[in-house]
Amino acid sequence: MTVIFSGIKPSGELTLGNYLGAMAQFITYQEEEAYFCIVNQHAITVPQEAVELRLRTRSLAALYLASGLDPQKVTIFIQSEVPAHAQLAWIMMSLSQMGELERMTQYKEKAGNLHESIPAGLLMYPPFMAADILLYQADAVPVGDDQQQHLELTRTLAQRFNYRFGETFKLPVAATAKEATRVMSLQDPLKKMSKSAEDSGTILLLDSPAVVTKKIKRAVTDSENKLYYDLVNKPGISNLLSIYAAISGLSVMEIELKYQEVQGYGQFKVDLAALVVGLLAPIQAHYERIMAGSELDDILSAGAQRAALVANKNLLRAEEAMGL
Ligand code: ADP
Ligand code: NA
Repeated sequence: MTVIFSGIKPSGELTLGNYLGAMAQFITYQEEEAYFCIVNQHAITVPQEAVELRLRTRSLAALYLASGLDPQKVTIFIQSEVPAHAQLAWIMMSLSQMGELERMTQYKEKAGNLHESIPAGLLMYPPFMAADILLYQADAVPVGDDQQQHLELTRTLAQRFNYRFGETFKLPVAATAKEATRVMSLQDPLKKMSKSAEDSGTILLLDSPAVVTKKIKRAVTDSENKLYYDLVNKPGISNLLSIYAAISGLSVMEIELKYQEVQGYGQFKVDLAALVVGLLAPIQAHYERIMAGSELDDILSAGAQRAALVANKNLLRAEEAMGL
């Protein structure tokens, strides 16, 4: 069986980008040995309100379940409930060099946007993420395209550890989706749709049908009024086409053909909105049932216990190899 690990930060409301880039893949790995984490310790690399963070952590766990993850088949848990994550993170930070961390694209983007001082946690996020993955000896990590570089660093750190202290960690690979591996903002299609940049260009998983429809209707396109994929000259339309393809299962070419005779983008946007609403409605209904029920906390404690068994074993191996 393949070992799968992935996580999402409870740092804001989940977006359609998180779903198409990450969660939709999670569901396909349920027959494997899979660990899906709510990485709340990564959320605090930028300031968070305690009450809100706790709420969003539970809400994200409920969305994992609502999107179809079965806690009988996979392990769902909260990162801070398994202390081995922070323990191995320290080891990975000690193996990292400032230069390689400062070169990470996501760090440069996030740090560059800050006018005040830069939290050290932003820089240390990639070695912490490496620890999350290596703790389970994961073979594959289902993530969006924006995480490729962090996965590369994870392999570098695992190799460095193995080279210095003896064969200990498996080298994981990123598993990305076929379509919509990087969903862009509907208002600024050169920017990634992100929960930390929440605005009318971001579709949230819990947006109502009316809000989804309005956001798609107002999505930035171009004045050519011809529907075809061209990432350089038509980034807005190309992004909408990718989303349509990811949800419908049609190829971009099939979609272009389908709308060949249609004038303008209006009908295409109406149909895309219906697809997104159709995707989200059952997830939202399931989510409401879970939040109203009483099983969530038990699922999360059982998940943390199961994860800790594996994590502690691998942490111990690493510590012994290093002389700790
Ligand atoms: P965010 O960038 O929204 O804060 P996270 O860093 O928590 O998201 O990432 C959670 C997962 O969602 C990762 O696998 C990431 O690659 C994926 N993801 C986030 N945004 C997008 C997007 N716009 N398109 C595709 N995948 C995305
Ligand atoms: Na499984």
